[in-house]
Amino acid sequence: MEKENVSQPGKKTKMTAYVLVAAAIAAIGGILFGFDTGVISGAILFIVKQWNLTHKQAELATSSVLIGAVLGALAGGLLGDRLGRRLSIIYATVLFLAGTLIVSIADGMTSFLIGRVLIGAAIGVASFMVPLYISELAPAHIRGSMVSLNQFAVTVGILVSYGVNYYYASTQNWRAMFAVGAVPGLILLFGMYALPDSPRWLFSVGLREAAEKVLRKIRGTPEVTEELAEIDEAIRSESGGKVSDLLAPPVRLALIIGVGLAILQQVTGVNTVIYYAPAIFKGAGLQSDTAAIAATSGIGVVNVLFTGVSLWLIDRVGRRPLLLWSVAGMTVALMVLGLGFALRGDEAEAGGGGLGLITAVTLMVYIAFFAIGLGPIFWLLIAEIYPLKLRAPGMSVATVANWGANFVVAYTFLTLASLLGKAGIFWFYGLMGVITWLFVDRLVPETKGKTLEEIEEYFITRAGPSRKGREQSGLRRAS
Ligand code: BGC
Repeated sequence: MEKENVSQPGKKTKMTAYVLVAAAIAAIGGILFGFDTGVISGAILFIVKQWNLTHKQAELATSSVLIGAVLGALAGGLLGDRLGRRLSIIYATVLFLAGTLIVSIADGMTSFLIGRVLIGAAIGVASFMVPLYISELAPAHIRGSMVSLNQFAVTVGILVSYGVNYYYASTQNWRAMFAVGAVPGLILLFGMYALPDSPRWLFSVGLREAAEKVLRKIRGTPEVTEELAEIDEAIRSESGGKVSDLLAPPVRLALIIGVGLAILQQVTGVNTVIYYAPAIFKGAGLQSDTAAIAATSGIGVVNVLFTGVSLWLIDRVGRRPLLLWSVAGMTVALMVLGLGFALRGDEAEAGGGGLGLITAVTLMVYIAFFAIGLGPIFWLLIAEIYPLKLRAPGMSVATVANWGANFVVAYTFLTLASLLGKAGIFWFYGLMGVITWLFVDRLVPETKGKTLEEIEEYFITRAGPSRKGREQSGLRRAS
């Protein structure tokens, strides 16, 4: 069991208004992510009607964004280091705006799918490039809440999409539903244009003066020598940075943690709840559409509120305790949900409200526990655990795994539900919860308050004294 802190607490660098504004602007990328996760659930109903889509076509229209996200995350990993964090986000936003335009004026399935894949690709890049960018700007002692602003924005984006779906439902204007996404897209584009790149990336490509200038600006002090020296030392001690280096010992563990958490974040069922909440509520006895939709919006609100709570706790309590409590709570909620469905009898058949109410409350408890831990902390940890030169490719691999698992879960839910039954499927996700808890307990280190360079050093030390391993990974122990 790995409980110890990574090393000495990082320096208390000042939090300036500038760095906060920069993080808040970049986090708008999270709104795009959340908005496009949620908007399709409302829009698809009207698209199916208008274009007479078959079940398969409707599935494709929904999943195209996830396929695009896998491709985008992959490309982002390859291009991220060459373009830099800032330009990667800017290009992704241009892609997002183009996709949004195409979807909003699509005259048939082909153009619609092209637009959705473009939007997906953009979100695939932004979903990891934004946490990466923020983590490289933030002072260590509040990096957790600053990076998690991105996840907060994801939940706000989901909630806004529910509101937008509701607003345009009466006119069945699905084009307008998608078009609204252009508003945060444009704000992000102009905002990122005005911001500098991350000092760590600038340094890593040899732009030392520019890095120093940015560091002075974001720290609000000319005294940045110590932080610069730390970054310099980390960069000097890394060589290579080839994607294959991800498999060398010190980085391999970070890779296992990143990819493992990526998959576990999805196979514990969160998007089943987000995509299928109305259907789950109906299945549990909340018969009216209005009750099912109200309960779904409730889930959106709880997701935002508890992500807010996590932002407050994450740098105080630490990543590990929050993650462990989060996964334990989710697992218990999943077991109770399964039990609820297993016990459903005549009452639910008759449309009784008792089980419906218990299901609604338990789903909210589940999402609250997801929101305080596994939701934000997965994205935070993958922005913290890779060495600078492998940060973009390392995050990219974890992000590909996350979107890939998201796709698989979405596509197996209905089949699994008919195979295992509703109770069985929640118990299955509960079992995944137990595995997640053990995985976190065994492997995830506490990164609270450490500088990124200290975290890098921790992984080198933990990989043991093997010189060969460090050389293979392009890392050596900082002296
Ligand atoms: C997950 C998404 C999910 C969202 C819900 C994110 O952390 O990666 O798949 O839809 O949280 O809030």
